[in-house]
Amino acid sequence: MAWYTSLVLPVIRWIDAECAHGLALWALKNNLVPRASDAQDVLPILETEVFGRTFANPVGLAAGFDKNAEVPNQMLAHGFGFVEIGSVTPEPQAGNRKPRLFRLYSDRAVINRMGFNNDGAAVVATRLRKRARRGIVGANLGKNKYAADAADDYAKGVAALGPYADYLVINVSSPNTPGLRALQGREPLQKLLSAVLVARDRFAAGVPVLLKVAPDLTDEDKQDIAAVVMALKLDGMIVSNTTIDRPVGLNSYDQDEAGGLSGPPLMEPSTRVLADFYRLTKGTIPLIGVGGVASGKDAYEKILNGASLVQLYSALVYHGPGLVQEIREDLARRLRKDGFASVADAVGAAFPDIGASSPAIDEAVQARGAVVVPAAPAPAAKAKAAPVKAAAPRKKAVRKPAKKEG
Ligand SMILES: Cc1cc2nc3c(=O)[nH]c(=O)nc-3n(C[C@H](O)[C@H](O)[C@H](O)COP(=O)(O)O)c2cc1C
Repeated sequence: MAWYTSLVLPVIRWIDAECAHGLALWALKNNLVPRASDAQDVLPILETEVFGRTFANPVGLAAGFDKNAEVPNQMLAHGFGFVEIGSVTPEPQAGNRKPRLFRLYSDRAVINRMGFNNDGAAVVATRLRKRARRGIVGANLGKNKYAADAADDYAKGVAALGPYADYLVINVSSPNTPGLRALQGREPLQKLLSAVLVARDRFAAGVPVLLKVAPDLTDEDKQDIAAVVMALKLDGMIVSNTTIDRPVGLNSYDQDEAGGLSGPPLMEPSTRVLADFYRLTKGTIPLIGVGGVASGKDAYEKILNGASLVQLYSALVYHGPGLVQEIREDLARRLRKDGFASVADAVGAAFPDIGASSPAIDEAVQARGAVVVPAAPAPAAKAKAAPVKAAAPRKKAVRKPAKKEG
């Protein structure tokens, strides 16, 4: 990672963010990005089975980096346990006016208002069909900006990409497509997901369908979403997309740009929402935790709070692809240190009253205290050789509303 932070980052800092992203994709396509020699080593403790798929490790690439499925195999080769392409809409679309991607250097964060720029389902489906099939690749679906019937758009995406995807994601949480997040309401969501499941059974039988939600939800929203997801027996949820909130304490020049914020300032709020859904679904629905993951500690915290898998995107901008290997190794160390035999054993360990996970350990209880208000009394700690170092308590975020979104 040293080559990235000392050579690449200082240079791309002066290049427009979207241009730098294009360069990164070009370099990946042409195999110009150095890979750690041990990037694909198998760490058995990290192997995990979720919604009927076997993942070599639980650390995935979040949607938005490889919108058009240009480099999924290259990213898998850098050590990701799975890659999510998209969001893809039925028809190609240009997205919002540029500039629409901003790096908040001092906060190691990103703001984007891309607006689902992508090549469209037919082109992306052809790329997925032609790819040498290895590793797990999910397809994240969106709707076109001017589509009259949202359910019809998502069904088209399922039909086009379902046959080539290891799982499908219904993204109703991007802040950059007008009206999209309203699809998270109880009735529209029920209608939309029912139509999607019919399309799945027809065009892509057996392919898991997941719902990706926003972090900016009221308690009532969360209860409604959890009820619909459980009633329809959805295969999983992704928590969460970017936030339209702006936590107080951001230090960067572009912090008031409209759009969705991602990176470290999203870690705490998205982990809270993750824990909420873990409790609301009683641990019965696999959750993918995403938002602010930039270290093994962050990934572990998501897992303890209910994530069966995690994803990241923004941290790649500041740390480069070598970060994946660091996170994998650190995660494996933390699991071993706390006496877990596998990732699955640690999932939701901060909530020993839910599901059949192992008794909580000190750090799990700490993590729970970090995301649940009020903190519950600590259950008995699991016996282990050395005491777990207490994680620093996270500060509760105070928020101010973001400027009107674009
Ligand atoms: C530039 C950019 C584009 C994104 N595009 C999408 C997208 O098309 N679909 C989607 O579901 N999420 C998209 N996301 C959200 C990410 O998948 C992820 O949920 C979010 O960035 C939080 O993770 P992070 O803090 O690790 O970046 C995008 C994020 C960024 C930074």
